[in-house]
Amino acid sequence: MNPHHELSEIDRVATRLAERLGVAPKVAIVLGSGLGEVADRLTQKTTLSYAELLLPPCSVSGHAGEMNVGPLGGVRVALLSGRWHMYEGHPPELVVRGVRALARWGVSGLVLTSAVGGMEGLSPGDITVVRDHINLSGINVLRGPNLRPADLAPADPRWPRFPDLSTLYSPRVRALIQDIQPGLSEVVYAASSGPSYETPAEIRMFVKLGAHVVGMSMVHEATAARHAGMEVSGFCVVTNLAAGISAHALNHAEVAEVGATAAGRIGKLLTALVAQW
Ligand code: HPA
Repeated sequence: MNPHHELSEIDRVATRLAERLGVAPKVAIVLGSGLGEVADRLTQKTTLSYAELLLPPCSVSGHAGEMNVGPLGGVRVALLSGRWHMYEGHPPELVVRGVRALARWGVSGLVLTSAVGGMEGLSPGDITVVRDHINLSGINVLRGPNLRPADLAPADPRWPRFPDLSTLYSPRVRALIQDIQPGLSEVVYAASSGPSYETPAEIRMFVKLGAHVVGMSMVHEATAARHAGMEVSGFCVVTNLAAGISAHALNHAEVAEVGATAAGRIGKLLTALVAQW
């Protein structure tokens, strides 16, 4: 990866966002599998395809590949319907180019949502809040030359070589979520690389390591967003019990279907959250 080239690609997207949409909203939300219909809650919206935003298309079904900007319960937000996964074969920098462009545009808060397999004490349809993650995907998205935009002042702490992740999933935002819906489960997210689902032995290992849910996204975007200075939060929809816990074979159709049943509830939570952000 050539850092100068990647930074200019990120800034090309950020410039396009500013040209088409003006000032950046405070918060952007990435919608995971089956959650695309949350975008229907925007009362007025501007829809831009990822192609128009100079971002690569999304290949996974259930991911539309567009950004909608408009008011969610009165607060202007950017909703990304569709994300890029490492398992699609994208280079790491491409998986997080969109998130980095949002940061450069001026978005300061990012909410990531994703479908996950549940491991301990969770059932399909449950919505959970990410407390922390364990990155077992085999790659750290920040590997390689440190990306640091040339226009940052030397004292600017954003885009550092060694970002601190001790409060990656914002304790402030987690407290807001608990006020909105007291008792919502907080989970540790284990990231696996996909695209295969895990083996039962891997799931037993993840449980021993202290994880509660498993998924194939989230951690790279969260890490890159934090690196770029954003405040990050995450919601997971448990779409299935993980391998070996589930009584039947796992499949993507079920993931998207169960995800969609939670879209209404997660839409309400997100609306309340951005109102207080
Ligand atoms: N494993 C990994 N990713 C997932 C799962 C799972 O069981 N369900 C939804 N995304």
